[in-house]
Amino acid sequence: MTSSCPFHSPLLDPDLRMRPPGEPLPPPLRAHGGPLADVFARWLRQRDDTAHAPEKAALTRALQALSDDDVRAHARRQAAIALQGGWSHWSWAVPASTVASLLGLEIRDVDAQRRLHAALRAMAAGLGASAGTDAVRAGGDAVAGWLKALDDAERLSPDAPLQWTLLRHAAPERWTDRAAFTANRLALIWQSHEAGAALLGHALLEWRATGRMPSRDGLLRIARDDGAVRVTRRFDVRHVPAEPVSVPLSGTDHPFGDGAHRCPGQGLTLTSLLAALNWLSEQTGLRLPEPAAPLSLPNMDIPQFLDILDILDDQDNLDKEPRS
Ligand code: HEM
Repeated sequence: MTSSCPFHSPLLDPDLRMRPPGEPLPPPLRAHGGPLADVFARWLRQRDDTAHAPEKAALTRALQALSDDDVRAHARRQAAIALQGGWSHWSWAVPASTVASLLGLEIRDVDAQRRLHAALRAMAAGLGASAGTDAVRAGGDAVAGWLKALDDAERLSPDAPLQWTLLRHAAPERWTDRAAFTANRLALIWQSHEAGAALLGHALLEWRATGRMPSRDGLLRIARDDGAVRVTRRFDVRHVPAEPVSVPLSGTDHPFGDGAHRCPGQGLTLTSLLAALNWLSEQTGLRLPEPAAPLSLPNMDIPQFLDILDILDDQDNLDKEPRS
C-alpha cells in the first residue's frame, strides 16, 4: 500500500522502518544464510539501530572528502574502457566500475568490468524476494570474492581515492566492528549499480531524443522524472505485523531519498555520470545508441540499448525471411 499521511513526508516518519521489527533479514536470506545475508544485515540501508546515525555520518564525510578531479578521472577512464563492451555494457558498467576503481580495485579492461557486473547481478538475484538456495549461495560467493578483493585493495592501494577517504573519515574503529565496515564498503559499489545504470541509461535516452547532453541539473531532473529510483519501501511498525509501505521518490524534490536514509552518494553519482557523458561527447563520429526494451524492476526501469552487433543480427534475420 502507499503511505497516505498528507502532513508528514513518509521518509521522515519514525514509525516507517527499513525492516519489520525482529526481522533483520528477508525470508530467502534468513532461510539460506551465508555471506550475502551477513552483509545485508550490516548495510546502513537496512538498519535503524542507534549505530546507524554515527556510522552514516562517518561514511558521508568520507564520500564528501573525495576530490571531484579524482572522481572525474576515474569515471572517464571507466567510460573509455566500457565502450569496448557495447552500449548496454557502457551504461551498466560505468557507475559501479567507477566506484570500484576509486576504491582501488583494478578495473583495467572490459573483462574486469564484466566480472564485476556478473558479481553484482548474482547479488541482485540472491536478494530477490523469491530467491532460492542456489541464487543466495551464488550471491554469497560473489560477496565473499569482492570482500576479499576490497581487503586486498586496502592493503595494496590504501591511497586509492575512496579507500583513502574511508580510512581517514570512516575507519573500521568508527563502526560497530570491522565486518560492519567491510560490508558497507562493498555496499558503496552495490548501491551505485542498478540506480546508477538507470540514471545513466535515461541520460543517454534523453540526449538521443533532444540532441543535447544532459547537464548536472538535467541529471537531477531525469532522476525526478522516473529516470532513477521511482519508489522505496518501508514497514509501518504501528501495525502488527508491520505493514509494507511504498513511498514515491519520482515526482518529488528528493529523488535521492530524504531523512535518515538519504543517499550519501548523490554528489559522487552526479559528478561521475556527468564526467562519463562528457567523455562520450568528446568522441568524434560517435552515434548515440538505439533503445531496446528496458530491464523493468519493481522500483526502476534500466534502459538497454541495441548494439551494432544486435543490429547486424536483426539484419541477418531479415535476410533469412522468405522473399516473395
Ligand atoms: C556512487 C553511487 C552511489 C552510492 C555510493 C550510493 C550510496 C547509498 C547508500 C550507502 C545508501 C544507504 C543510506 C542509508 O540507508 O543510510 C543509499 C541510499 C539511497 N540511494 Fe544511493 N548511492 C549511489 C547512487 C545512487 C543513485 C544513482 C540513486 C538514484 C537516484 C540513488 C538513490 C538512493 C536512494 C533513493 C536512497 C535511499 C533509499 C531509501 O531511503 O529507502 N543512489 N545510497
